[in-house]
Amino acid sequence: LRINVGAAAGAASSAHMYGIMFEDINFSGDGGLYAELIRNRAFQGASTSVSPWTAVGGARLSLSTTQPLSSALPKALAVTGGSGAVGFANPGYWGFDVKVQPYTGSFYVLGDYAGNFTASFQSTASKETLGSVDIVSAATSAGWVQHNFTLVPTKAAANSNNTFSITYNAAGVKGGSLSFNLISLFPPTYKNRPNGLRKDLMEALAEMKPSILRFPGGNNLEGDAPPNYWKWQNTIGPLKDRPGRMGTWSYQNTDGLGLVEYMQWCEDLNMEPLLATWAGLYLGGSLTPQSGLQPYVDDFLNELEFLMGDAATTKYGAQRASILGHARPWRVNFVEIGNEDNLNGGPASYTAYRFPMFYNAIKAKYPNMTVIASMETKSLPGDAAQDYHTYSQPKSMIGDFAKFDRYDRKHKVIVGEYANINRDSASNMWNNRPLYPFWKGSVSEAVLAIGAERNGDVVIGLTYAPLFCNLNSHQWTPDLIAYTADPAQTVKSTSHAVIKLLSSVRITHLLSMTGDPPKPVYYVVGLNAATGSRVVKTAVYGSPSGAAVSMTVAFAGDAVAAGATATLTVLTAPGGENSSNAVGSIAAVKTETTTLTAGAGGVFTYSLPDLSVSVLEVKGV
Ligand code: AHR
Repeated sequence: LRINVGAAAGAASSAHMYGIMFEDINFSGDGGLYAELIRNRAFQGASTSVSPWTAVGGARLSLSTTQPLSSALPKALAVTGGSGAVGFANPGYWGFDVKVQPYTGSFYVLGDYAGNFTASFQSTASKETLGSVDIVSAATSAGWVQHNFTLVPTKAAANSNNTFSITYNAAGVKGGSLSFNLISLFPPTYKNRPNGLRKDLMEALAEMKPSILRFPGGNNLEGDAPPNYWKWQNTIGPLKDRPGRMGTWSYQNTDGLGLVEYMQWCEDLNMEPLLATWAGLYLGGSLTPQSGLQPYVDDFLNELEFLMGDAATTKYGAQRASILGHARPWRVNFVEIGNEDNLNGGPASYTAYRFPMFYNAIKAKYPNMTVIASMETKSLPGDAAQDYHTYSQPKSMIGDFAKFDRYDRKHKVIVGEYANINRDSASNMWNNRPLYPFWKGSVSEAVLAIGAERNGDVVIGLTYAPLFCNLNSHQWTPDLIAYTADPAQTVKSTSHAVIKLLSSVRITHLLSMTGDPPKPVYYVVGLNAATGSRVVKTAVYGSPSGAAVSMTVAFAGDAVAAGATATLTVLTAPGGENSSNAVGSIAAVKTETTTLTAGAGGVFTYSLPDLSVSVLEVKGV
């Protein structure tokens, strides 16, 4: 296959081509990226059970609403009776990774107690204490008192099958019982942010060099039924003022990972935020009429003002500065109105009034903001963009390679969710889905991505979904990164490897490509104007008889002369098209890097195996 590459830089490409999409699904926020280790730390939601807390030392546990810690957290854990060392234990999000490192903890107590509290880790199997710390009680029946501590285990645990407990001497309690709330414990977090994010998962994301974050959903933005949509005001400020909400994916969200934490996440990974707002439609089909929508539009403007408003002159900008001490405004350039409004009876109202009401109000205040519709539609006002989602099987996803060639250039598009969720052999792709992405699917996703990059003038970027999966409890597979409480078990999938490679060298401008049609080698060629690199990205999919393909890449003009060198990185899966990375087996993808030298006329020749993904980078001179 021959590719003739033009010399002059063509259309500018998007700076956000490779990004990530996040919503709390599969315990991806709570029990995942959000580094809080205690499950059900504040008894949020409708549950009347203390689960998963268990009593220690013959105490009795119950929920008390007698004297709430705050209006957001009306329920507390009442601990009554027992003798000697009594208290309560938590299993974490299916275990605790115990290392010799500082764990930062805190809990509130109400009641009279003289003595120490002891916070500790225990091995579930051996009952051995892996570390403990005593905290002098300041507890009183006069009001809730916060206790802070640092627990440094003396011993690393062999595995994550451990529990955390708080105990105290029952003899020191006056009045028979104590109440506890907001019992929190964090390991060291990424960049040591308080209330921060899990290190190994952030490092796995950083490897992909994502440049945009689409959040907070996904279905989890929408809520199943009134009043359960994602509300920004409930996710900011001190944790004791965050009520949490019932998420769409069948578990309670703490909202500890809230709006501000999302913005900090963007800062830490140098990503552009793409902030989505609820747009008047619940997943169950409950719809806000036109006459009732304006308050939600206004509320989103308030949210934007909270993020971007001047601290001295705007109401919500001042709130940001006072709550967070964050006087400097953030910048939001991309917003999305709703999620998948093509579903659940949404399209007619969406194009008739819901999208236009949000669009007009946002554009009036922020004329340069990119406002994205949550569906593909021909009825887009002004310079609105749109969102295309595809869950597919490898053979069908290939069919989207040229999709964006056909787009008119008036309205941009983001591929806000994509994934191959089953093998071609599955008769119904939604059933019996694999737990992990598999190689053929990942190569086919590369074909989609390369098709998008060829149209970087109109495609904003791509974000795989879902991003994360807690292997102990999940609602959707496959997912980009899977994990348990034990970071040694984190699985970066084959699709992660593909995104990491394609994202590693960014194209700022397309270069003209002539020669053989892009099949079975799907390719894009571009320039990185900042480094001067010329780059050829390929995915080989469906080569006749699975044979390797001989490549000839000829660079026109003087840009690449004979003797110029290039780095070729090729990903393959020696285990075959169905191979996956999995817990304990994370080497499905083979990476080979070689240095090539251009022959006469700046021509590179090389060979690419079928089902491979590659990047050839000719470094700028
Ligand atoms: O990614 C899982 C779900 O798929 C998202 O929540 C939703 O937007 C889509 O239907």
